[in-house]
Amino acid sequence: MNVQEYKTAVAQLNLYSYHYYVMDNPLTTDEVYDKLYHEVLEYEHNHKNEILKNSPTQRVGEFISEGFAKASHLSRMWSLEDIFDADGLQKWLTKTYKLDKNISFYCEPKFDGASLNLIYKNGELTQGITRGDGEVGELITQNVKTIRSVPLSIEHKQTIEIRGEVVIFKDEFEKINKKRLKEGEAVFANPRNAAAGSLRQLDSSVTASRNLVFLPYGIGINALEYKLLSEAMEYIYSLGFRRPPNSSTCQDFEQIEAIYEVMKRDRDGYSMMLDGMVIKVNEISAQIDMGYTVKNPRFSVAYKFPAVEKITTVKNIVLQVGRSGVVTPVALVEPTDIDGVVVERATLHNFDEIDRKDIRLNDKVIILRSGDVIPKIIKVLTHERDATQVPFTRPTHCPVCSSELLDEGVLLKCQNLECNARVVNSIIYFASKPCLNIDGLGNKIVEALFHAGLVKSVVDLFDLTLDKLLALEGFKEKKSQNLLNSLENAKGCEYWRFINSLGIEHIGEVASKTLSENFGSGFVDVSKEQLVACEGIGEEMAESVLEFVRVNKETVLKLQGILQPKEPLQKIEAKENPFKAKTVVLTGTMSQSRSEIKEMLEELGAKISSSVSKKTDYLIYGEDAGSKYDKAMDLSVKCLTEDEMKKMTVEIL
Ligand code: IVH
Repeated sequence: MNVQEYKTAVAQLNLYSYHYYVMDNPLTTDEVYDKLYHEVLEYEHNHKNEILKNSPTQRVGEFISEGFAKASHLSRMWSLEDIFDADGLQKWLTKTYKLDKNISFYCEPKFDGASLNLIYKNGELTQGITRGDGEVGELITQNVKTIRSVPLSIEHKQTIEIRGEVVIFKDEFEKINKKRLKEGEAVFANPRNAAAGSLRQLDSSVTASRNLVFLPYGIGINALEYKLLSEAMEYIYSLGFRRPPNSSTCQDFEQIEAIYEVMKRDRDGYSMMLDGMVIKVNEISAQIDMGYTVKNPRFSVAYKFPAVEKITTVKNIVLQVGRSGVVTPVALVEPTDIDGVVVERATLHNFDEIDRKDIRLNDKVIILRSGDVIPKIIKVLTHERDATQVPFTRPTHCPVCSSELLDEGVLLKCQNLECNARVVNSIIYFASKPCLNIDGLGNKIVEALFHAGLVKSVVDLFDLTLDKLLALEGFKEKKSQNLLNSLENAKGCEYWRFINSLGIEHIGEVASKTLSENFGSGFVDVSKEQLVACEGIGEEMAESVLEFVRVNKETVLKLQGILQPKEPLQKIEAKENPFKAKTVVLTGTMSQSRSEIKEMLEELGAKISSSVSKKTDYLIYGEDAGSKYDKAMDLSVKCLTEDEMKKMTVEIL
């Protein structure tokens, strides 16, 4: 970088941050910003006399916006220096060891959300303040009080600031976006934006509905006398704050690297988004001695993970017709490696979203992919447009069967029950894991069987023979025989799988189990009253079952004759025990698989439910327990750890 390039880079960074913080409309990804920022930082390191006053490295705070009252933090909220690789870690360690040799480290995930400072005085929560510029933030106490994992009072009378990250779990994020889509609203780009947006609502009831979670990571002003950060944090958790997953202490470079590698490998498995690992010197006296630079503490660093947001180009927009006829637009993008996975497709949700974001063919866009977050386009870089972008027109006819689409506003639907796409997708669904789980009957094979005219409905699957299959291209003896065996093995399946495989609208795996347990094969003859009397079956679901049976009873009985699904057993009466006839919810990671624990409790006569309500008797939680735990605490449902539950069952089993 020469001086001219340096000046251009500073101007570019300032433009990026203006759009990011002030306009709430980023021009690029964090990754692109960070890379340029570090180049500028390096240039400045070698040319100390040339540092521009308006360089973003000289800016201590961030922007604060209008709307909420402002409030000062009692002590400053710092931000962290970033490192990206082992080399960066080595350099940081060398620097840090120069300040003090006798130190150890405290590592924990870096949560991707919004930072929050909580001030407690006399044991009461008096203020909740966003980070703002580090000195002054927005006063959002009312909203903060709706977060269930923020204690309103604590057993600690001296004034204390507790700092942490407010996050939205990934499953909750997808749920919120699904609901917003249904209601014709714009989706949130990522869980971080969703968390920050939810915190800064002018109406607290909106914040309350978002299931935000507060994860404490540090302490501001305090009168504690702990020697180690790890001990101080234990004390914070004991005051009623939620323990974030997976913090550990360690000694040296090798151990930090090992913890980092595991955390990076497992990042998709966490309930919340992580963007790195934070390393902190564990000895508090050493922290105090090391102090701060203008921007960052010297005793801590953020070891970032590879980015999950990347820039790519929209090459095409294709339409998918699902088994229920809903037409979903999907973007085909220039293949892009995101954290080790090549992304080629991104959901566009629905046509309103395309209009709202104004996505055009050949647009440069930012895409997000992370574990269970579905790859999606979160932003169009409109300032990058040249003359080659082509707007996308909303279809009027089914791309597969050409019948006219029903335009329901947000959703477009193909209403032709015999549309090839609908039929093929319902066969694929029938064979999928949560249904009949038929090995060797994936998308490609179903399509081949369908297009060869061998299988026009799921019933036809069971008329396949070796001769018929061998006549198809690509079907050798072994592959054909395996498929026939898998189809044979599907016979005698559990009854709930049979119900689930029918693909009744609004009836998923859980409802199929409920129907199976309550009615078995009698589910084709039940009344609406009987249906809604089951826990978890509402009006809409009941109507859907009745309508499905009305139209398809004959096919259901025929399929049942072929498959002979097992009627659910009448349960043997369990001996008296604390869980008998109780409704139990499981959450978090336990030492055994969830299904093993579920089976054991069911043997004791417990009913396992998937959501916490007033009717729940026990919540059994493992590590990294999510919003179910908060809800259970809120409803005063008895919460047991896995060990506590096991102790209660020891005498009986
Ligand atoms: S410690 C001294 N620990 O990352 C600075 N921060 O740039 C205290 N963050 O603003 C930060 N998870 O909002 C720390 N486990 C964690 C964190 C964490 C997320 C955020 C925090 C902070 C930013 C650091």
